[in-house]
Amino acid sequence: MTEWLKEAVFYEIYPQSFMDSNGDGIGDFNGIIEKLDYIRGLGCNAVWLNPCYDSPFKDAGYDVRDYRKVAERYGTEEELCRLFGEVHARKMHILLDLVPGHTSEEHPWFIESAKREQNEYSGRYIWTDSWFQRAEGFPYIAGECERNGAYVLNYFKCQPALNYGFLKPEESWQKPLDHPDCMATRAAVIEIMRYWLAKGCDGFRVDMADSLVKNDDAVKSGTCKVWRDMITRVQEEYPDAVFVSEWNRPTSAIGMAGFQMDFFLDWAGNGYHLLMRDYDASGRDDSFFKRDSRRRISDFLEEYLPQYEAIKDQGLYCLITGNHDMVRAACHLEERELKLAYAFLFTMPGAPFLYYGDEIGMNYQDLPSKEGGYTRTGSRTPMQWDNGINCGFSTAAPEKLYLPVEQGEDAPTVAAQEKRADSLLHTVRDLLAVRRRYADFQDHANLKIRYASKEQRSFAYQRGKLLMLCNPSGQEEEIALSDFAQEPWKKQYEIGTGEWKGRSYLLGAQSFVILSGEK
Ligand code: NOJ
Repeated sequence: MTEWLKEAVFYEIYPQSFMDSNGDGIGDFNGIIEKLDYIRGLGCNAVWLNPCYDSPFKDAGYDVRDYRKVAERYGTEEELCRLFGEVHARKMHILLDLVPGHTSEEHPWFIESAKREQNEYSGRYIWTDSWFQRAEGFPYIAGECERNGAYVLNYFKCQPALNYGFLKPEESWQKPLDHPDCMATRAAVIEIMRYWLAKGCDGFRVDMADSLVKNDDAVKSGTCKVWRDMITRVQEEYPDAVFVSEWNRPTSAIGMAGFQMDFFLDWAGNGYHLLMRDYDASGRDDSFFKRDSRRRISDFLEEYLPQYEAIKDQGLYCLITGNHDMVRAACHLEERELKLAYAFLFTMPGAPFLYYGDEIGMNYQDLPSKEGGYTRTGSRTPMQWDNGINCGFSTAAPEKLYLPVEQGEDAPTVAAQEKRADSLLHTVRDLLAVRRRYADFQDHANLKIRYASKEQRSFAYQRGKLLMLCNPSGQEEEIALSDFAQEPWKKQYEIGTGEWKGRSYLLGAQSFVILSGEK
């Protein structure tokens, strides 16, 4: 594994909303540069930047019109390259967002592909043989282009699917993976990766990485094959290029496709979802980190552990505080609950990903959809830096902002939380400092669950010489750790309280403790 990943802690930046340096109401590259020291000071040493390419922005930039051109609203390519340089000068790393599964319908490849005459791009997307022939089983569009065919979509209507082929083609218009058209798509995407790696980025977060090959099997062996080939070819030239997949299946993404990292993403009802977002409109909230939840950690572990065990020697199964696609955790969790959740996320194996603003518990806002955001829009609002105009995000008139800043006196800000010693911001910084201090946190294959039961909410896990104990409930709990001697475990960090009671450990209500076996 690329060496720096072992100690990587990522900060996800939604460029629209992070920092506006030129007062036009939208974030930009220079704004990010201004805030790099803040990110570094937080304890994050790597950045994932959401798409910043030229786009009609029907899906906030996930509809790329030109992969090699930056969106003017964020600045120039020179400024993006300066950002790469400033990141590296701070011994940090930066990943761009690669969108390989689809382009914008305004991408020149698609415009050519939609023409009646055969051309170089006719096979770049997935078209049926005639306007009358449906792309059965896929979302598709017919009736809009001069070409006699229907084309397959990958996500929204504005996002035609690039053609990487079908695992087992069944129709004349379905091509095998090694068809020249599909190989040309691969080559084109490899060129895009090379382009940005040559400019100085360190790798890519890969959008919908599992979506490339159509009619794929359950483990996505076709898509895995394509990725193996593409990643291998890129790494021949850039051996340290890093790839993190939006896949949610590390046994495929890391085990088969060659990614170094995959996310545990928020999908309704899955193990990650249950930690912080298990609520519904009726008011029921059973998220594990809610004080009064009835959930046990085993609800998470049952799903997490088999995947983790299978890939722990090959790559990182990464836990996130949130991202631009999900409701912010602070929408339902109180500050103390967030502290415990983050303490867990930041001490587990894998590189943690902190979504901008989650370090201060930025809230979700109920807003009209912007750029295809729909219910995601409320998690994409401007970063709240201080209590100045627009919370310090921009000097533009408030009505010119990309999205409104959170209103209200009690909207959390970095400046206010800097002043409060027990704030979430300080907790994040302290936790990441503890994480940096111990080499055991850089060994990502060393997780051992030491206590998890159906009877109690508390749980304990070990990483080398470190022991983490957590009680998310509102009552103190004593957990039996009989196979551990009381000595020489020494407390290194705590939220709340915890103490040995013979061979058991007594955790105060809503507490998290890190013990180390070093004297
Ligand atoms: C996943 C991205 O995270 C999301 O924001 C986007 O809308 C879809 N992929 C489509 O690219």
